[in-house]
Amino acid sequence: MDVGTVEERVEFLNNVMEVAVAIELEVAAVYDLFAETFAASEELSLFWRLYAETERYHAATIRIHQTAFVQPEIMATAMEEEFPTEFGETREFLAKIRALREGFVETPPSLEQAFEAAKFLESDAAEVHGRTQFFKIYPQFHNLFLTLVEEDLGHRKMLVEAQERFAFDITA
Ligand SMILES: [Fe+2]
Ligand SMILES: [Fe+2]
Repeated sequence: MDVGTVEERVEFLNNVMEVAVAIELEVAAVYDLFAETFAASEELSLFWRLYAETERYHAATIRIHQTAFVQPEIMATAMEEEFPTEFGETREFLAKIRALREGFVETPPSLEQAFEAAKFLESDAAEVHGRTQFFKIYPQFHNLFLTLVEEDLGHRKMLVEAQERFAFDITA
């Protein structure tokens, strides 16, 4: 399989990273929207704001790795079978998050819906990160994405606990 020139490979990898960054920022935008939606509760609003921050931190982490490690020399020596040829799934996920957010702009979510959406986002983000296989070329990226998987699974776990707590608060 032809995987292109070194320049094409670098461009491809940069595109993959851009989409990965966009996913994190888009998730952050959903949580910012939730912070506004639930602005009546200072605590709840802060809760979503802080979640948005953690996703922006993920975006920054990816960006730092991208700057440091996307180098033509490494691309030149990468084996063809190590090189990915498409990342449609990642783009689809990004489109899904955008659609979700636009839906919530039209119709603000209930707290229950917000938590359900966030849990869906975290587990799907973890899955998509986990399947990003082309990082055989860059072990640093592999480790980075494994960390992101763990963190997003941790986020999901925290959301489950927070959902119970806030549901109790609100019905009280
Ligand atoms: Fe994330
Ligand atoms: Fe997360």
